Amino acid sequence: MSTLLHLDSSAIADGSVSREVSAAFRAAWQAQHPEGTVIYRDLAADQIPHLDAHGITATFLPAEARSAEQNAALALREELMAELEQADAIVIGTPMYNFTIPSTLKAWLDQVILMGRTAGEEPSAKGTPVTVIAARGGSYAPGAPREPYEFVTTYLEKVLGGGLGLEVDFIVPEFTMAAQVPALAEFVGQAAESKAQALEEAARRAKALAA
Ligand SMILES: Cc1cc2nc3c(=O)[nH]c(=O)nc-3n(C[C@H](O)[C@H](O)[C@H](O)COP(=O)(O)O)c2cc1C
Repeated sequence: MSTLLHLDSSAIADGSVSREVSAAFRAAWQAQHPEGTVIYRDLAADQIPHLDAHGITATFLPAEARSAEQNAALALREELMAELEQADAIVIGTPMYNFTIPSTLKAWLDQVILMGRTAGEEPSAKGTPVTVIAARGGSYAPGAPREPYEFVTTYLEKVLGGGLGLEVDFIVPEFTMAAQVPALAEFVGQAAESKAQALEEAARRAKALAA
């Protein structure tokens, strides 16, 4: 039986483009895997605590030497790493906030990346396909004036691919703020096109994974 790990991180519940597209991916994946399991985490609604000293130091100690706080912090890391490891496919919805990912998603990454287990020479989830839905208000496409400010796909490619060893794919709905920001008014049509393409692409990729 297949398992999909589905993460959302937009702080917006209604009207979030990354949530809409990640839901389309999930629906297409579920259509291919009616018996499959979906592990869902809404990282904005149910925030994962930042990695702290207990969570870091616990990993250097044998079980009998850990404090209660270290055990609790490690239990959370274990739970999140196990979800990552049991997934056959992953979809992550992320907005761009101030040129990069939301801190809620960074908190998840900090908890699951552990050298010698999920990262390092032989990452435990190596090769798992991850599709990242990276929505943004403007455009950071090649040649755009803001291209050098893109720290969502550039960062996630390295941390998910280079760090966790996942097979990373991006779907990038852009200009989502075109209808609200007067300076982007000329891109309203492009925004609608970009979202429609993203929805199609999400369904196509979820189906292709099953094949
Ligand atoms: C706090 C905040 C910061 C943002 N920063 C950026 C930014 O740096 N660049 C950009 O293009 N859009 C920015 N946006 C717009 C979002 O990326 C855009 O609304 C995107 O669609 C959010 O994803 P969502 O629709 O899934 O919520 C920002 C929005 C918020 C709320």
